[in-house]
Amino acid sequence: MYISNKSMFITFEGIDGCGKSSQTKRLLKRLNDEGIKTILVREPGGTPISEEVREILLDNRSKGMSDRTEALLMTASRAQLTYETILPNLELGHWIIADRYADSTLAYQGGGREINLEWLIQLNHFATFEIQPNLTFIVDVMPEEAFRRKTGENDRIESEGIAFQNEVRKKYGDLIKLFPDRIVLVDGHKSEEEIHNTIWEELVRRDYFNEKK
Ligand code: TYD
Repeated sequence: MYISNKSMFITFEGIDGCGKSSQTKRLLKRLNDEGIKTILVREPGGTPISEEVREILLDNRSKGMSDRTEALLMTASRAQLTYETILPNLELGHWIIADRYADSTLAYQGGGREINLEWLIQLNHFATFEIQPNLTFIVDVMPEEAFRRKTGENDRIESEGIAFQNEVRKKYGDLIKLFPDRIVLVDGHKSEEEIHNTIWEELVRRDYFNEKK
């Protein structure tokens, strides 16, 4: 499939409560203010079908879900989002920011649930129509800090607790080594403003704006 070379696909990753969602919104606003048409999506979810899948995945009544079912539903949600929103917008030359994407499956289902990484990589290939983000930011915080920041009820995955989040964080660490050109680690303990500036500087450093200005 043809993808305009002006479009950019940027994903945000990290453990639960790392602060990436505020960063995605900030970046969305700044890019749109700069005149770069940008769309924000989140996973699991982002389309009507994917949001229904999300309900099942995060519902505390889904306690009996097998790890493999979880991996398949996460990637099913991704396939629909990619097909319905991400690919068409990239083709139009728009930018996409995703609050979680394929790396979440590698970190959560691979690290947290200990599913074989090769299987998950293949599942992701299938679900993403073999596209890759241009750039991925992992907002890194200690699980203890993430839990301290948390408000409201835990969903099914958050209920797994700190040891689970530690495994997820470790796997994110492995992914940085596997994809050093694509993945950038940012320190989530810094202020929202500082993190945003680091992210913006990275986009400038990579010359992402050259064609637009
Ligand atoms: P969400 O409330 O969106 O969490 P957050 O605000 O931290 O992104 O819930 C998404 C949950 O689903 C989160 O615990 C991470 C998990 N998840 C996976 O386990 N695998 C995946 O592939 C994705 C996309 C998310």
